[in-house]
Amino acid sequence: MATYQNRSIVLSKRPEGEIQDGDLSLVSNDMPALKDGEILIKTLWLSLDPYMRPRMNDMKGYMDPVAIGGVMTGESVGRIVESKSDKYAVGDIVTSYSGWQEYHIVPDSQEMMYKVNADGVPLQAYLGVAGMPGRTGYLGLVNVGKPKAGETVVVAAASGPVGTVVGQTAKQLGCRIVGIAGGEEKCRYVVDELGFDDCINYKEGDLSEQLKAACPDGIDVYFENVGGDVTKAVAPLMNAGSRAPICGYVSAYNATNMGEVETPFHILGALPEPPEHRFFLVTEWQDQHAEITQLLADRVKSGELKYQETIAEGLENAVEAFKGMLKGKNFGKQLVHIAD
Ligand SMILES: NC(=O)c1ccc[n+]([C@@H]2O[C@H](COP(=O)([O-])OP(=O)(O)OC[C@H]3O[C@@H](n4cnc5c(N)ncnc54)[C@H](OP(=O)(O)O)[C@@H]3O)[C@@H](O)[C@H]2O)c1
Repeated sequence: MATYQNRSIVLSKRPEGEIQDGDLSLVSNDMPALKDGEILIKTLWLSLDPYMRPRMNDMKGYMDPVAIGGVMTGESVGRIVESKSDKYAVGDIVTSYSGWQEYHIVPDSQEMMYKVNADGVPLQAYLGVAGMPGRTGYLGLVNVGKPKAGETVVVAAASGPVGTVVGQTAKQLGCRIVGIAGGEEKCRYVVDELGFDDCINYKEGDLSEQLKAACPDGIDVYFENVGGDVTKAVAPLMNAGSRAPICGYVSAYNATNMGEVETPFHILGALPEPPEHRFFLVTEWQDQHAEITQLLADRVKSGELKYQETIAEGLENAVEAFKGMLKGKNFGKQLVHIAD
């Protein structure tokens, strides 16, 4: 076996608030030899996702925090470059939870590892609208949001991979879909390219007034991605019998103490008639992974499902890209291109 030099990004120190220099470090190591039943995967594309920030905190969430000195968690698309398994051959492409690194070795029985048969779909789409965020938007909307034709659906972070799929799916189901996004360019894209009925730039003007004007019949489904001031503006417009899938609340992810944050549960729960709301995880529907990935990939291939992406070049630029994404510097899915 050839010797492979790996580079990875490890958590050196738990950030307090925003990530600072020295919290995450780039380190190198030689990859060990493969054992029977193992495969060596070279990362081609790394996904950067908001959930990674809470994983840096010393707080037990739905998953354990990343250990100090541990490789940052993350999903990637990679190519198998060595195999001692009869299930995977050299050249196979897989999505797997590699972490932020250029190579990783896993047993062929690794959970949450899936072969990709791209067939005309860009590989990196399997980390975006045809990947975990896309399945999140689709399954969370359909199963928890339960939208019906003619209803009004609102989603923030509308130009990101989750929001993009929520909006285009809601539109296809015959709903009125109103996006919220940070900036005129993102809003124009969401309406002109993605086909949303309206989009509000929450960084300009009075969000509550603009939202009221965009939702004359109130809001039936609020797909929660961001929390904070956006949720406060949405809450009074929620109709009787409305639903709010709580997907995440990225506005709080850099908080110094997440335990003290006013969450969407506080805001929506305090309404006289709270909407039906609950947190969900995309893994609730892991048994539909193949089916929904295929459905979304087919829509990408046909051109029906549109999306944007922002690409950082090389692992050494992952940290800055990640910090930027939490502030909305990304336009669409934030990726790191590692290798061709
Ligand atoms: N529950 C699950 O299983 C699951 C799975 C995947 C993702 N998620 C959640 O889904 C949400 C969207 O994920 P994504 O991957 O599609 O992210 P994304 O949209 O690519 O990136 C995050 C976006 O959040 C927006 N944002 C940041 N700070 C904000 C603030 N203070 N107020 C309003 N918007 C703010 C920014 O967009 P603007 O410039 O438009 O503000 C930023 O681009 C996140 O909350 C994530 O944690 C949950």
